[in-house]
Amino acid sequence: MIIHKNISLKPYNTFGIDVKASSFISISDVEELKEVLDSKEYPDKFILGGGSNMLLTKDVDALVIHVNLKGIEILKDNSEHVWVKANAGEVWHEFVLFCLKNNLGGIENLSLIPGNVGTAPIQNIGAYGVELKDVMESCEALNIKTKEIRSFSNAECQFGYRNSIFKTQEKGNFIITSVTFKLTKRNHVLHTEYGAITQELDSLEIQNPTIQDVSRAVINIRESKLPNPKEIGNSGSFFKNPVVSSKAFEKLKENFPDIPGYVLSDSEVKVPAGWLIETAGFKGKTFKNYGVHTKQALVLVNYGGASGQEIYQLSKLIQTTVRRIFDISIEAEVNII
Ligand code: EPU
Repeated sequence: MIIHKNISLKPYNTFGIDVKASSFISISDVEELKEVLDSKEYPDKFILGGGSNMLLTKDVDALVIHVNLKGIEILKDNSEHVWVKANAGEVWHEFVLFCLKNNLGGIENLSLIPGNVGTAPIQNIGAYGVELKDVMESCEALNIKTKEIRSFSNAECQFGYRNSIFKTQEKGNFIITSVTFKLTKRNHVLHTEYGAITQELDSLEIQNPTIQDVSRAVINIRESKLPNPKEIGNSGSFFKNPVVSSKAFEKLKENFPDIPGYVLSDSEVKVPAGWLIETAGFKGKTFKNYGVHTKQALVLVNYGGASGQEIYQLSKLIQTTVRRIFDISIEAEVNII
């Protein structure tokens, strides 16, 4: 067990926030993970995956356990499907590329999402009409107290919009160690209904797209709107899209005739937080070395050297302003630490 002391977490969070961990260990097998969790020497532990969905606002005075379990395995197949198990520390997009190379369909719309495989179920990652819940068969997780591995079926994960049991009832109780996907081997079901994908495929002059083409389209769209965390620190969408009652939405429409909304049911409408933030005047706003992305108002960015506190304060200012103008509360999607 190699435990590092007083190290910077800057390389381990996509926001690029420079805070320190009092102790840090990178774990590459489950037995070692159990051993570390048992260690009495470090009573406080902090589990770190790909670091793509958090904002660190202070030093972490705990043993940071970097889950770095690697490996991808084909478990079984039949004439139509393949069951693939990926360990938690695999980089999400590299796993997507593995699937595309092997012509396995189902996750092409989730191309280029930052983060690791193991954190994907926690917030049920989603983009362009597909969510993790549509392709996940099950996942395995280590119970932090009992040190037993438990398998969670898709239903047991209680997936919702950017939500799962790992963010609610079982928050902090499990470490996901692997995820098993049920993917298509042929007769792939393409999800190109999302407007921007159709447009992008048209502009690429592709009439009968393959899963590789859909992935290319998604990558092009993401690259045109979302900052690359390797260049500009960010955590993707900082806020969730709020859901309002149909009644409230109709009222908002009177004052803001252009307000977009996706009808969820007879009584609920989802409003793009990006539109609210842009209309509130924050899109592209820069404060010192941080701000709101120029091409997508849902994304807060660290241009280099900003503190987590500064970005957190900006998020608070955005929330208060949006509430004042629209009477809508927008909730952070990223975990504030
Ligand atoms: N919009 C604006 N201004 C903006 C941004 C968006 O007016 O600056 C409005 C536009 O009306 C646009 C609508 O919002 O038509 C929707 O925008 P977009 O298609 O970019 O999607 P989003 O709702 O902003 C969500 C996810 C993204 C995901 C995209 C595509 C959430 C919180 N975000 O964004 O996920 O990539 O859909 O499916 O649900 C992430 O979670 O990190 C993430 C990037």
